[in-house]
Amino acid sequence: MERDITIQFVPLEIILPLRKAVIIAGTNRDTPYFTGDDAPDTLHVGVFASDECVGCATLLYSRWESAPAWQLRGMAVAAERQRAGIGTALLQFLEAALPNRKPAIGVWCNAREKAVPFYTSAGFSIVSDRFVIENVGPHFKLFKAFANPGIAAQPQALKHDANAVARNPASDE
Ligand SMILES: CC(C)(COP(=O)(O)OP(=O)(O)OC[C@H]1O[C@@H](n2cnc3c(N)ncnc32)[C@H](O)[C@@H]1OP(=O)(O)O)[C@@H](O)C(=O)NCCC(=O)NCCS
Repeated sequence: MERDITIQFVPLEIILPLRKAVIIAGTNRDTPYFTGDDAPDTLHVGVFASDECVGCATLLYSRWESAPAWQLRGMAVAAERQRAGIGTALLQFLEAALPNRKPAIGVWCNAREKAVPFYTSAGFSIVSDRFVIENVGPHFKLFKAFANPGIAAQPQALKHDANAVARNPASDE
């Protein structure tokens, strides 16, 4: 694991350059923005080495099957910093922080085929067949339940939270 990194929730503008460089470049996407980027429940997280943003992700408050869950999108580590544990550190930060934010049973994502070993190494399970996202490429859907559900442990909170937005699971990564 890289030393001297900090991880925190930040405004979208802070992570947008890294998202553009690592996630958008090389695809046929015409915008770096995701549907839901500016939703009130959406969280953006950055990993910083000194003041440089070297890792990022976006969390959309969504649903997994019928329960509230977070959708992880735009997970990226700067090219020259990959395979140094930054992505793993970011996921660990999220697993500690998210259960205390809103009721949710876990995290899911549409993962690029090349990134699947990263997610499975972090404990995610593959829960779909391979499918293609237009303009990006082949993907799999993955899910990881929170080991420590925090406020999600309260069944009433899960049952009555009407704010989790159902999203089209195959349309975005
Ligand atoms: C996928 C990504 C976020 C992973 O972040 P990272 O900081 O490089 O990952 P880590 O160093 O924490 O990797 C942890 C483990 O995941 C696995 N892993 C990570 N990248 C891998 C790869 N390209 N191929 C195979 N296994 C990989 C390995 O087991 C690795 O442990 P090891 O290096 O000790 O073998 C990063 O490589 C990235 O930004 N890739 C380009 C953008 C992308 O594909 N984003 C995901 C969109 S769904």
